[in-house]
Amino acid sequence: MSDEARQHRTAAVIPAAGRGVRLGPGVPKALRALGGTPMLIHAVRAMAASRAVSLVVVVAPPDGAPGVKNLLNEHALPERTDYLVVPGGETRQESVRLGLDALPDDITTVLVHDAARPLVPVDTVDAVVEAVHGGSPAVVPALPLTDTVKQVEPRQKGEPEPVVATPDRALLRAVQTPQGFDRATLVGAHETVVRGGDGATDCAGMVEQLGTTVMVVTGHEEAFKVTRPLDLVLAEAVLARRRANDGF
Ligand code: C5P
Repeated sequence: MSDEARQHRTAAVIPAAGRGVRLGPGVPKALRALGGTPMLIHAVRAMAASRAVSLVVVVAPPDGAPGVKNLLNEHALPERTDYLVVPGGETRQESVRLGLDALPDDITTVLVHDAARPLVPVDTVDAVVEAVHGGSPAVVPALPLTDTVKQVEPRQKGEPEPVVATPDRALLRAVQTPQGFDRATLVGAHETVVRGGDGATDCAGMVEQLGTTVMVVTGHEEAFKVTRPLDLVLAEAVLARRRANDGF
């Protein structure tokens, strides 16, 4: 084991307790199949593919932990990585906190990765881990935007909405996961930031609220979030391309 690996022990927490209503009716989103394998298994393998990650904590739907445990047992996963399954909560923020509560004492670095981003390449995971180990307490992978973004005054669904502002696109980034944190920084944010309404959809945002600088590293287009039906089509196409390339 290198000095660096001895100094830092890294765990990945995967919130997978969402219902995925925007994807349409059916099983919880994380359990939908992609290329015949549940999305969650792809996400777990993507985290375990990084040699830095020694533990993966899956946060399952509140009533689904035994089923998720069985699922992990049924699929081949790297031997060097340990797995834990804990039941999740009502919001993503609560699910992440429940995952953090399950971490053993010796974990120093935490990645939080959406089960809904099953295809993130290992290079992106490693880039986030390296930036945290390099001294940044909070790191997110992100990409420049292709669309221009408008801030609007929201109206009822389907009604035209007046534009309030057009932020300079060159200053904006679309944020992905895994987001990486020094453990104490992330736990501190979860203990301090109030849990209101729908909760935070982004751990880095909670850390920002405490005044800690969050750093951005380059994300990857294959780290997109599977949210709507069209995203499933794209994910299947990415998997097919990978299979074809592996064949050569
Ligand atoms: O809903 P959204 O796409 O923002 O969810 C992002 C991630 O958070 C998903 O992987 C989802 O399973 C997870 N989540 C959770 N617990 C909730 C809601 C969402 O673990 N209560």
